[in-house]
Amino acid sequence: MAKQEEKVGVVIVGHVDHGKSTLIGRLLHDTDSLMDGKFEEVRASCARRNVPFEWSFLLDAFQAERDQAVTIDTTQIWFKSKKRPYVIIDAPGHREFLKNMISGASFADAAILVVDAAEGVREQTKRHAYILHLLGLKQVVVAINKMDSVGYGEKRFNEVRGEITAYLADIGIAPQAIIPIAAREGDNIAKKSDKMPWHKGLSLLEQLDTFSPAAPPVEKPLRFPVQDVYRFDGRRIIVGRITSGVLRKGDTLVFSPSNRSAIVTSIEKWNAPHDILSAQAGESVGITLDQPIYAARGDVASHAEQAPMLTHDFRANIFWLGKEPLRAGKRYKIKLATAEATVTVQSIDRVIDTGDLARAEKDFVAVNEMAVVTFHSRETIALDPFADNHDTGRAVIIEHQDVVGGGIINMDGLADLRALRLATQENLTAVDHLLTAEARALRNGHRGMVVWLTGLSGAGKSTLAMRVERALHTKGMQTYVLDGDNVRRGLNADLSFTAKDRSENIRRIGEVAALMADAGLIVITAFISPFLADRRAARAAAGAGFHEVYVKADLDTCEKRDPKGLYKKARSGAIEDFTGISSPYETPETPELVVDTSENDVDECVGMIVDHVLQNARGLSQLTYKEASAER
Ligand code: ADX
Repeated sequence: MAKQEEKVGVVIVGHVDHGKSTLIGRLLHDTDSLMDGKFEEVRASCARRNVPFEWSFLLDAFQAERDQAVTIDTTQIWFKSKKRPYVIIDAPGHREFLKNMISGASFADAAILVVDAAEGVREQTKRHAYILHLLGLKQVVVAINKMDSVGYGEKRFNEVRGEITAYLADIGIAPQAIIPIAAREGDNIAKKSDKMPWHKGLSLLEQLDTFSPAAPPVEKPLRFPVQDVYRFDGRRIIVGRITSGVLRKGDTLVFSPSNRSAIVTSIEKWNAPHDILSAQAGESVGITLDQPIYAARGDVASHAEQAPMLTHDFRANIFWLGKEPLRAGKRYKIKLATAEATVTVQSIDRVIDTGDLARAEKDFVAVNEMAVVTFHSRETIALDPFADNHDTGRAVIIEHQDVVGGGIINMDGLADLRALRLATQENLTAVDHLLTAEARALRNGHRGMVVWLTGLSGAGKSTLAMRVERALHTKGMQTYVLDGDNVRRGLNADLSFTAKDRSENIRRIGEVAALMADAGLIVITAFISPFLADRRAARAAAGAGFHEVYVKADLDTCEKRDPKGLYKKARSGAIEDFTGISSPYETPETPELVVDTSENDVDECVGMIVDHVLQNARGLSQLTYKEASAER
């Protein structure tokens, strides 16, 4: 195989039975891309079984061969021209294919839209063309196939050509060429056919050779979606694929949506012996930072001046694949680069019939329909309009673990929270402390940290927090407990228990706890903090010293305990939005510690938390005198 970077990815689309598989079989054969003897073998086998030979059988043979060869990527079919290799994005089943296209799992540089000369433009011709448009594919060639069935006539070709050109023009696609072909006969596939002398243009393969591989968007603003964070040799390595732009050692990166910044201290590639000075779009790298800021899968790193937008609301042109219609008010999971978020359908702005491009006012979107939909996310998400960036501008919609749709983002008329925040922060300058964290740690005998207890009301958070504090205090540690019921009487007396106010409650506590930990205290917080995203934000505020403790007890147990009689009130309807009853609790996914208060008694649970704190807060022996010197 020739050089990887020169390959062009081609997607072949079109209405069922218009000849996609035959065309692939022909391309494989006419470009000599099959194993030696394969063609003869398939032909002989057809003769033996007394079935007429079909070109698409070559595709099956290729696939069978491919299934045995572990070295070949299972989703790809290769062929080559004199100029370069091509990879055909496989389209096994219509639905699978659409899912891959829409989720970006299959990336194509160019498309061949196959139209049957006799049948002309059909429903899927239009639908697929619309998806090409949605994905922003610019290198498109239309192949009007089965010209043999219409006597290779120019008149019919022109009719179909007129029909498809009109539709494509309506959706904003200008095909580079429209070529009459007969895939079964091999006309105008690899070379020009003498049966259609009226066609003055190129053969299909010659046309493909005029296309170029889509260059990775190096000149666009940097986007580095975090895939994972590894701990290695005591370092935290943030790993991901740079989807656009250039990343350099020494760059200050801002991580969105948390909006924390740090400087890149090294860039590493798996196969490179040394760290490197820069990396660019298309490369997968690991980076280390000068500060232990919290970064996790789903964050997008960028440069501060050209960061992605931050928002709770976005609009998308979607293609719907779900058997259940999409409806306003429904909740879905979306994936945006490596991030996941739960979103609610705010409004269905219009539904587009791909057949006649008519717009309808409907309150649902049915399978195979296109629509413009506005989504709302409770958590802040980082994204780009698709027009600016394809990878961070595309959302995949998931329901019950299944891809049910996808779409491209358009932020026209919607606010960028980053811009709003920047405007208020414009005249603020962070002031450096003269004391280091180490100096404070030396004075206190331990580092500061946040021990974040989360769990249902009645799970035992407050009891444990107070007991843990007393135990740590006895051991000479500087401590403080922030407790929900207490803080809600003062600092947060203005907040109710709606999801929005709970988020604000936790946001404030997260920031306060981070400040207190920075001051050197062991801060123990006891808040239900029911939402993952809010706890994630609290973690981001505190950085590396954040330890989430899931105080676990099932709802039944908590309700039986009912220490404050609140469950009873909530059941009777006297309290609204009560966690576990009429408001959700999102269980921690990866807490540092779980204590189960229905299985262990209070002393055991206190012991577990205290041990965890002692193991993680000490660390003073690792301090050198120099690090611990009081002046920064
Ligand atoms: S959180 O959800 O915003 O984290 P927080 O921990 O501050 O809640 O407050 C929870 C405490 O408020 C409970 O322990 C309970 O005593 C009291 N409370 C009053 N109303 C509610 C409610 N609707 N849901 C949960 N707790 C409530």
